[in-house]
Amino acid sequence: MPTVQEILAGPIDRHTNANIATLLADLQGNILKGHGRDHTVHLFLNLRLDTLPAAKKWIKDFADRHVTSAQKQFAEMDDFRKFRIIGGLFANFFLTAKGYEKLGLPAPQDPKFVAGMKASGAILADPAPGDWEEGYRREIHASLLLAHDDESELNREARRILQEVRRFADVVAGERGKAMRNKNCETVEHFGYVDGRSQPLFLKEDIDKEHEKEPGTVLYDPSAPVELVLVPDPNGDGNLSFGSYFVFRKLEQDVLGFKKAEEQLADELGLKGPDEELAGAMAVGRFEDGTPVVLQKTDGVADPVPNNFNYKVDPGGLRCPFHAHIRKVNPRGGTGVPEEQERKHRIARRGITYGERCKEPKDDPAMEDLPSKDVGLLFMCFQSNIENQFEFIQKQWANEEDFPSPGTGIDPVIGQRHNPMDQRWPVVWGRNVKRSFSFHGFVTLKGGEYFFAPSISALKKI
Ligand code: HEM
Repeated sequence: MPTVQEILAGPIDRHTNANIATLLADLQGNILKGHGRDHTVHLFLNLRLDTLPAAKKWIKDFADRHVTSAQKQFAEMDDFRKFRIIGGLFANFFLTAKGYEKLGLPAPQDPKFVAGMKASGAILADPAPGDWEEGYRREIHASLLLAHDDESELNREARRILQEVRRFADVVAGERGKAMRNKNCETVEHFGYVDGRSQPLFLKEDIDKEHEKEPGTVLYDPSAPVELVLVPDPNGDGNLSFGSYFVFRKLEQDVLGFKKAEEQLADELGLKGPDEELAGAMAVGRFEDGTPVVLQKTDGVADPVPNNFNYKVDPGGLRCPFHAHIRKVNPRGGTGVPEEQERKHRIARRGITYGERCKEPKDDPAMEDLPSKDVGLLFMCFQSNIENQFEFIQKQWANEEDFPSPGTGIDPVIGQRHNPMDQRWPVVWGRNVKRSFSFHGFVTLKGGEYFFAPSISALKKI
């Protein structure tokens, strides 16, 4: 039987032993693997002081009835694989440090979690909370994530739960997530690019599947130890009770602005016809269909969308510029620090798109159909250390003009900096002739917070 330390140090095989089964039964789902549902509801609660006993009772009950354990999530996944039966309502419950304080419970001690997202605003170059959507300016104590593949079922459950929580909390904000897919059924974000392909994989079965999908030499190893996302829960039942830090950011996307910038960049670089696609691909690091621009100068490698690649073939950033989103946020080695250390900054992304638009990316919208506000990404990620993972990626990589090399510029998708320098873009794919162009400012933070996903036993004891 492996010890707790041994379990944490590697990916896990969920079928092997009793310790792992105990861990998974007490761990919330969605952490080790995304819940995969296409529709979500997110509620953000401010607990009222006068009704705290009712809040505590409800949380216990919600943990009992609804919060989906990793074990249940995986069992439903097996049922889907074997019998095509889709899973039911999926639920997560999260607390902020202020929420722990309000409930009178010892909080997990990550200093960034304790301080909350607003306290990191200056170092992340975030818009001031005064410019956030109103609900997120308020103190948030807890959040619920509800997910379902059946939208009307989700509506029914969410309405019932909303009525229940209103008895003891002000619902300060609420969001609807809806996955969008392209013609190949891959999920895409609002700029139209395949998203969610590259993830740290924590389950041995997922790592094996990945090797089957992309056989041959391993150029990029997606496997990750569970300690990348799990931390002991101070309020759990025993030494196999874990939780995870959860970052939520509502990121509005100016799709019209982004697509115009792609066109202007294509003009600037003299890209014509189908080559115009290269402009966006050099901003994101992948073409819209997911083809990594480091592999080739046209799209078309989308089945499966490759993830077994690195940037060794492009040491000068002449195919995939150093500033490209995916190269910034996961440089895949070659940045001067040992790769093992670099890999510790990885996050488990669990975002979903929000907002209605008249034409989705799959409908090939014209410029006049593109939204410039009210749509975006409910960015979510799990990690074991907020400073070393989410904040490190945003601050030291995406926002840093001199990463990975002096004069790189900020990440054109998520980089935040007052008056950033132009990035330098290869005029011809693979050749060392570059032109300056400023590409930034199309993603805006509208609100967010740092949470902890407690173990289920901790929730049942509240
Ligand atoms: C609206 C905002 C965002 C958009 C439109 C966006 C878009 C994308 C796209 C299209 C990909 C490529 C698909 C994939 O490899 O899975 C990607 C990958 C990724 N994004 Fe973002 N993203 C956004 C926000 C963020 C934020 C805030 C972070 C972290 C601070 C982040 C971190 C990552 C990481 C780590 C990857 C995987 C890169 C790799 O492993 O190659 N993204 N994103």
